[in-house]
Order: sequence, then structure tokens, then C-alpha cells
Amino acid sequence: MPAFPSEFQWGVATAAYQIEGAVDEDGRGPSIWDTFCQRPGVIRDGHTGDVACDHYHRWPADIELMTELGITAYRFSIAWPRVQPGGKGPANPAGLDFYDKLADALLAAGITPVPTLYHWDLPQPLEDAGGWMARDTALRFADYAAIAAGRLADRIGMFITLNEPFVVTAFGYALGIHAPGQALMLDALPTAHHQLLGHGLATAALRAAGARQVMLTNNYSPGWPASDSTADIEATRVFDILQNRVFTDPVLLGSYPDLGAFGVGASGLECVREGDLDVISVPIDALGVNYYMPTRLSALPDSPLPFQMEPIPGYPVTAFGWPVVPSGLTEVLTTTLGAYYGASLPPLYITENGCSQADEVASDGTVADQGRIDYVGSHLRAVHDAMTAGIDLRGYFHWTFADNFEWSEGYHQRFGLVYTAFATQRRIPKASFGWYRDLIAAQRKER
Ligand code: FCB
Repeated sequence: MPAFPSEFQWGVATAAYQIEGAVDEDGRGPSIWDTFCQRPGVIRDGHTGDVACDHYHRWPADIELMTELGITAYRFSIAWPRVQPGGKGPANPAGLDFYDKLADALLAAGITPVPTLYHWDLPQPLEDAGGWMARDTALRFADYAAIAAGRLADRIGMFITLNEPFVVTAFGYALGIHAPGQALMLDALPTAHHQLLGHGLATAALRAAGARQVMLTNNYSPGWPASDSTADIEATRVFDILQNRVFTDPVLLGSYPDLGAFGVGASGLECVREGDLDVISVPIDALGVNYYMPTRLSALPDSPLPFQMEPIPGYPVTAFGWPVVPSGLTEVLTTTLGAYYGASLPPLYITENGCSQADEVASDGTVADQGRIDYVGSHLRAVHDAMTAGIDLRGYFHWTFADNFEWSEGYHQRFGLVYTAFATQRRIPKASFGWYRDLIAAQRKER
């Protein structure tokens, strides 16, 4: 592995609903994921996040393992329904206490806490009032951001506002395969604007409360046309707008891309009010990049959808069926982001990257996940290639620390460096844990 800069952050990433459990404890209110998981048939095998990794109770042992791993930073998310159970109004002190203790323990272990404020667990009362379709949710998000930073910004320097707002809009509100399970198709577009407005308002609120650095995390995927045909190339252009531009252009360039392909007229999205783009484009200190795979596209004639996704032949696939394409990460960093945004691009962090595997505990108690070692190694080289090409990249957060609740897949996709035996909550570090630990140690020794 080539040497990374001495100040490069080595981390892992998690999200509250995927690991915490304890959904009814210490005044936590219901989130849209609690509600969604109760709907028959939406989550594989009817799994829920009720217990997850029981991290809410087991966090001291989890931090001990993170210390052993040697990470320098930990990306986790704060559960809005713990901090503000009703989604508005006064804070729940017990909810804040949890993250307060977590932050102190991380800092004591020499690990920089990097919290995400919204990793998809909207308080249910806000969804009942319209969710991200309602402009008011953006204002409520800023209030919550102020509360969280009011308690934590004296010790936490960097906050992430939203995680993957594209997935919230596409999976949560357009297709209905994630919470809140609405299938509004293109009518879901206001949820994009309201999340971005929430990001902008929250950025100002975080800074006012003392946060030194604010970041937004998006998921990016380079679009590959399935053929050289004009129609497939156009389908790829339209995909690129939706996946890579809608949630980034307003923040970095202060304008929406042309949404004509999505039935939006020349005057733009109707829900956009004067001044909104100024709020949204307030400078951020860094952009978080989640990368899993490229997307291959073809045109879909006679359909309201402007493209369809095609399998990508010729690459190994993860247990999720996702193609393993490390060069796609270099392409995202240098082309999708670097070449396109130029001087408008802030420093980048990889805030998620990883793979699911059908990991099993062998009779000797070990978990041999060579595939994950290869995956992370090749993607880190891809990151390094982009840095060599001039991209300012400051850190890498592996998705994820320990196997957890993988949304509509329930507990079926194992993404962790640590194996979670869900029946007993035993943690078993996989081979990749030792590999990542040694890699971090070697990189830090070179400093
Ligand atoms: C990302 C999510 C994260 C995790 C990975 C596999 O889209 O942000 O929570 O589920 O995918």
C-alpha cells in the first residue's frame, strides 16, 4: 500500500438505527424506520432494528474494539428521535447524554468523533406532518442541529448534516422501498429540495453553535452507458443529473441542474423559494463521498422513467450482487467530482466504502474474509490514485465497524470488520479487522 499523508484520517462508519437498538429507552420517540419495519413484507424476514447490535448498551466494549483497531476517527450518527422525540420542541436530556458520553469516551481513546445528524431516522411525528415533502421539516432539522451542537460542539469539531439525501428521495419517497415507504415517483422531488434546505439551515445553525467544520455526505456513482447509442448516452446523462448533480450542484454551484428530463419546467422546482439557494450554497468545509459501485444505463423507450439500470458484466460481485469496481472510485473522485466542480470542490472524505460478504465463523472461531481485505485494499489504492492525480482527500471511513441492520435487507448483508453473532451479541473480529489494524499502524508509523 502506498503511503498516505500523515494527517489522513483512518476510520469506520456506522449509523444509529443500524446499530443502537434500545428503541424504547430513555425517552426515545419512534422514527419512520420503527414504523416502516412493522409493515409486513417490506424488510427481508421481517427483521427490525429493535435490538440491532445493542450498541446503546454495549458501546464501551465497542469503543474498546475500535481502540484496538487503531482508527483515528469514528463516523456515527445521532438519532434525532432520541434527542427530540417529537421532532420539535425541547430536547430530551437523556438522549443527548448518550452522545455526550460516547464523545467523551472516543476522545479519551484518541478517536475523533464525526457525527452525522441525519442518517434516515426521521421522528415519526414529523413524517405524520408531511415528512421531507413538507418545507417545515427543513426548519425543524436546523433546530435539532442547534440542539445537538449546543451540547457537543465544545468537543466535536466536525459535523455531517445529511447522509445520502438521494437515497432518501429515491428509495424513501419515490420508490417506497425504504422508510417512509412512499411511492410518489417524480412527485418526490420536493423532498430533495427540502433536505438540501435543511442542510443549508443546519449548516448555519451548527456554525452558530460553535461547530468548526461542516460536511454533507452524498453517494456517488459514475454512469456508464450500456452502448454507444445516442439513446443510451442520453440515458446516462440523465442518470448522472439525478444521482450525482441534484444534491451537489445547489450546494457547490448555487443552482439546480436542468431537470427537464424529470418533467420539471424551465422555471425549476415549484417548491424553491427566493433565497433558498443562497441558504443551500453556504460554503461547506468538506464533502463526504460514499462509493459502492458504478451504474450501467440504457434508454427505456415508452416509459415515464428516463433510464434503466443494467447489470455490469465482467466484475466480481459482493453478497449484495454489487459489482466490485475500484477504478469507479478513482473515476468518481477525479471525473464525476474533480473535473466537473473544479475549484468549487472542497476537500473530500470517503465517508463510506465497503462490501457485504456471506461471512461465517469457522470451527476454530475465526472469520476469514479475504474478499473484504481485497476489496478495501483495492479501493484504498483507487483513492490514492485520485490523490496522486491532485484530488484533496483527507480520510477514509470503512463501512462498517460491525455487521448490522442493513435496511430492507435486515441482518442478511454483513458489511463489518467485526462479525456480529446477533443471537448472543458476541463480537468476533474478522481477518479484515486485523488487516485494517495493521495497515493503519503501518501508515501511522510512517508519519
Ligand atoms: C449506504 C448507507 C449505509 C449502508 C450502506 C451499505 O447507502 O448510507 O447506511 O447501509 O449503504
